[in-house]
Amino acid sequence: MTTDERVMENTGLDWHSLYAQRTHRMANSAIRELLKVTEQPDFISFAGGMPAPEVFPVDEVRAVGDRILRDAGPTALQYGRTEGYGPLRQLIAQQMTNEGIPCTSDNILITTGSQQAIDLLGKIFIDLDDRVVMESPTYLATIQAWNSYGASYVGVDSDDDGIVTEHLEGTLQSGDKLLYCLPNFQNPGGVTLSAERRRDVVELAMTRGVPIVEDDPYRELRFEGEHLRRLIDIDSENRSEGGAVYRGSVMYLSTFSKTLAPGLRIGWVVAAPEVISELTMAKQGVDLHTAMFNQMIAYELSASGFLDRHSRDIIRAYKERRDTMLVAMEEYFPSNVRWTRPQGGMFLWVTLPDGMNAAAVLQDAIPHRVAFVPGAPFHPTGGGENTFRLNFSNASPDKIRLGIERLGEVLQQRAGESPRR
Ligand SMILES: Cc1ncc(COP(=O)(O)O)c(C=O)c1O
Repeated sequence: MTTDERVMENTGLDWHSLYAQRTHRMANSAIRELLKVTEQPDFISFAGGMPAPEVFPVDEVRAVGDRILRDAGPTALQYGRTEGYGPLRQLIAQQMTNEGIPCTSDNILITTGSQQAIDLLGKIFIDLDDRVVMESPTYLATIQAWNSYGASYVGVDSDDDGIVTEHLEGTLQSGDKLLYCLPNFQNPGGVTLSAERRRDVVELAMTRGVPIVEDDPYRELRFEGEHLRRLIDIDSENRSEGGAVYRGSVMYLSTFSKTLAPGLRIGWVVAAPEVISELTMAKQGVDLHTAMFNQMIAYELSASGFLDRHSRDIIRAYKERRDTMLVAMEEYFPSNVRWTRPQGGMFLWVTLPDGMNAAAVLQDAIPHRVAFVPGAPFHPTGGGENTFRLNFSNASPDKIRLGIERLGEVLQQRAGESPRR
């Protein structure tokens, strides 16, 4: 008897035939499935996308949480506005304005993590078979979210300088619904879009009339080099109308998940007020608003300057972990394997020799108690079977070294080559 037949026998319902069409393109995340196997304590997992638990500011959140409950308990526990907690929206608008992008609260929507912003954008923009252009590889959970709206993906190559603009030029068409870009320390590739290409991307999108979704959760986690101008910075400068409100065609996403804590689930969108209104309507039907208490915590810790100081501690910890991983890879990985050298963020990207399959390597690696995520699912239109993603933020430096040594042994057996040193 099949599972479906068993379900029917027990419930009398054929659930599958009742699910909406949009569920047919939903699939379980390879990462989530994998994380289940790697939860055992002796496992060294480079698979997830989790921050280091050691850097969570538990004491500060507790102190601020106490104060909020003491001074404004009923507000913290009450329903709030869909657009978000007023002072937090004002703070983000002021920060954007200080950075040269004229914004008011009307430009800001607080979301339940930036993942919700991604889903809401899909909801308001994507009709069945709409073309959505994205770099390949790209963030897996966006592919998943927009699958259910019936997006038709068009992948654009990326290299060590991010999305290849010559390829984008030949690909992006007027009428495409969205151009989805991750300019800083991309998840999964770890690469950063160069300053020159940023200008080209904005210009191309503008001339072809395609709005850009700039997904930028890792910007504050830069270990070296200077901040590059964001796509929204360039777009804002290119516009001549001026005024105190941003009305450009970039929809910028950010989050407190990487600088404060992902469990609070606070992200935000910066966009033209028209788009913010539409997103707000969509959000009303999803969760009414993002948790007020959590927004108030994020506001207090951000407004007091604590998060700026705290980000420096996170950067120090992650830089050490990235360096440890890169040094260990030089030592243990075979000479015919290549990888990216991210200037920030939480991930790096490995390319195996042509014909070698990362999913098969993972099967070999699991008995050695080490895991990563195979790269194929990150490719919106297929390919990438010889690639995989490594997370360097979550494991301690000691574990990173041991895990890379284990992985190196597995790779040497498969690749038939010795390490470069
Ligand atoms: C590129 C990218 N976008 C969005 C998100 C979602 O972040 P949040 O925790 O704010 O929902 C992540 C999380 O890992 C990410 O890597």
